[in-house]
Amino acid sequence: MDGLRFLVLSALVLSASVCHGASLNTNETEAQQFLDDYNAAAIDDYYISSEASWALDTNITEYNTQKMLTNVSAQLESIYAKAKVCLSSDNCVSLEPDLTRIMAKSRNYTELTTVWKKWRDVSGKVMPQLYSEYVDLNNDAVKLLGNMWAQEWNERIDILKPFKDKDSMDVTEELKRQCFPFWYSNLCLIFIFRIKMCTDVTHEDLMTIHHEMGHIQYYLQYQNQSVLFRTGANPGFHEAVGDVMALSVGTPEHLRTIGLYKNQDNDEETDLNFLLNMALQKVAFLPFGYLIDQWRWSVFRGDTTPESYNEDWWSLRCKYQGVSPPVRRQDTDFDPGAKYHVASGTPYIR
Ligand SMILES: *[C@@H]1O[C@H](CO)[C@@H](O)[C@H](O)[C@H]1NC(C)=O
Ligand SMILES: *[C@@H]1O[C@H](CO)[C@@H](O)[C@H](O)[C@H]1NC(C)=O
Ligand SMILES: *[C@@H]1O[C@H](CO)[C@@H](O)[C@H](O)[C@H]1NC(C)=O
Ligand SMILES: *[C@@H]1O[C@H](CO)[C@@H](O)[C@H](O)[C@H]1NC(C)=O
Ligand SMILES: *[C@@H]1O[C@H](CO)[C@@H](O)[C@H](O)[C@H]1NC(C)=O
Ligand SMILES: [Zn+2]
Repeated sequence: MDGLRFLVLSALVLSASVCHGASLNTNETEAQQFLDDYNAAAIDDYYISSEASWALDTNITEYNTQKMLTNVSAQLESIYAKAKVCLSSDNCVSLEPDLTRIMAKSRNYTELTTVWKKWRDVSGKVMPQLYSEYVDLNNDAVKLLGNMWAQEWNERIDILKPFKDKDSMDVTEELKRQCFPFWYSNLCLIFIFRIKMCTDVTHEDLMTIHHEMGHIQYYLQYQNQSVLFRTGANPGFHEAVGDVMALSVGTPEHLRTIGLYKNQDNDEETDLNFLLNMALQKVAFLPFGYLIDQWRWSVFRGDTTPESYNEDWWSLRCKYQGVSPPVRRQDTDFDPGAKYHVASGTPYIR
């Protein structure tokens, strides 16, 4: 509901109650009691509902899938969650961590384009009918860029960095050397919260884990607020709190402190490599983040119709990111659906 309509509606409700002023309860003590009761009941409901969705989300059985089949948005999420790409007849892998790793590390053009296309065949391509139902209900230039959606380009830092003999600060090798899977798995035991994430032992995932823990720290900070205020100031602020953690963990100083970064170089060239690495992640991401919602808003406005889902997607990709698909696309492809936030209906401009 938009703000204005909400205000008008509230005003109507308010004037309606004023008209029946005789029956309006103005007792503050009772009002406070009502809020306290609501709070207590809502806390229990939230808890039960979070537990239930965790149990369902982490337990994708045939039975549970059937249960979700009547729910279009759950179906879209389920397609995305279960999608697997078969690299050979006996080797089928999912997006995390295998396909992400291939996209990041492989320099083999054939392999990259194959993976890029196959991922879209098993995710987006099986969705368009459902996606247009979902809309009704609710009202890459891969070879160069090192990421399934070319949303961040930092995995190509090794070929792009200006000072080849200087570091660009990626602690993946050191993490692997220090057997960090052990450290990752211990994380679950130490803290009393859970993060659902399929990790790989890489610099990037180390940052992501800290970003997620930033969200959790924020949850903990507002845990004693009344239920109504137990949420971020806005979704973007929540992401910002997450990134405060990730960014402060990713500095050379901190990585040295925790023994993951041994290089003691402190010169301008290393700094520039590091800054370019950061820009390939953060600056390259901006047009991508922007176009996802440009596309979605256009769909919900009705300007982009099911027939032009894919075509309009690639126009925006070209216009804002300057990328084009590595293999020919057809009307039957649905490339937006190959991105989690489209399949799951998660807003991107936050
Ligand atoms: C408000 O309600 C409480 C509890 O029902 C009662 O004890 C109190 O007297 C009421 N106060 C007024 C001003 O009516
Ligand atoms: C997973 O779902 C099935 C129903 O398909 C249920 O019987 C089982 O108890 C669930 N397992 C867990 C660990 O929740
Ligand atoms: C449909 O699924 C979505 C995502 O799993 C969930 O948020 C929503 O509550 C479900 N709706 C119904 C009516 O079950
Ligand atoms: C590149 O990948 C393709 C398909 O996975 C494979 O057949 C080929 O041998 C690879 N080429 C090199 C040079 O590794
Ligand atoms: C919330 O309340 C608990 C119990 O009183 C307390 O231990 C905790 O420090 C409080 N948290 C915050 C962030 O105020
Ligand atoms: Zn986040």
